[in-house]
Amino acid sequence: MSKLKTAVLISGSGTNLQALIDACKNPDFPAQITLVLSNKKDAYGLQRAKDAGIDTIVINHKDFSSREEFDAQMDKAILDSGAEFVCMAGFMRLLSGWFTKKWQGKLINIHPSLLPSFKGINAQKQALEYGVKIAGCTTHFVTEEMDAGPIIKQATVNIENSDTVETLTAKILEKEHQIYPESLRLIAEGKASF
Ligand code: GRF
Repeated sequence: MSKLKTAVLISGSGTNLQALIDACKNPDFPAQITLVLSNKKDAYGLQRAKDAGIDTIVINHKDFSSREEFDAQMDKAILDSGAEFVCMAGFMRLLSGWFTKKWQGKLINIHPSLLPSFKGINAQKQALEYGVKIAGCTTHFVTEEMDAGPIIKQATVNIENSDTVETLTAKILEKEHQIYPESLRLIAEGKASF
C-alpha cells in the first residue's frame, strides 16, 4: 500500500501529533509522517516525534523578516522530507496566501470548536462565555482565511454547568484525537477532498 507522506506542523504539546503518530503505527493506516516541523524549539511535540523516530526540524519564525520568507523555508523543509500532504496540529502561526494556495487541498487543520462558531484563539473560552450547550472540534482544509476552509469532520461534546475552560478543553481534546486520524484516513483513501 502506498502511504500518504505527511508533514505535521506544531507549536506546542503535540497531543494531536501523538494521535497521528499512534494511528500511523497501524500497518493498515494509509498515511505516514515524514517530518515534524515546529516554530518553537521547546515544543514538547518535538520529543514525541523523536521518541517515534520521526525527523524533526525547528524553524523559528522570528528569524525571518516576513511571513512569506518563513513560509518558503517551511515549504522547502516539507518538500525535502518527501511529504505531499501537511497537517497543522496546534501550529500557532497564520500562513501566507502564497503558502495556503500552493498547498490548497493538501493542507488541513484541527480547531477546538464547531466551526464556523468561535474561530481564532481561546475557542473553548469563547464557547463557555457565549453559553452554548454543545461544543466540539472540527477538522478542515486550510484556506487563506483563518478557520474557514471546507470542513472534513466534526465531533461534539456537551457543556455542563460545572465545566471550566480546563475541563472543556480536555473533553474536546479527547474528541480531537479521534477525528484527526479519521480525517487523515478519509483523505488518504480518497473519500474526502477539497
Ligand atoms: C488543539 O486544541 C487544537 O485544536 C488547536 O491547538 C490545540 C493543540 O493541542 N489547534 P496539541 O498541541 O495537539 O496538544
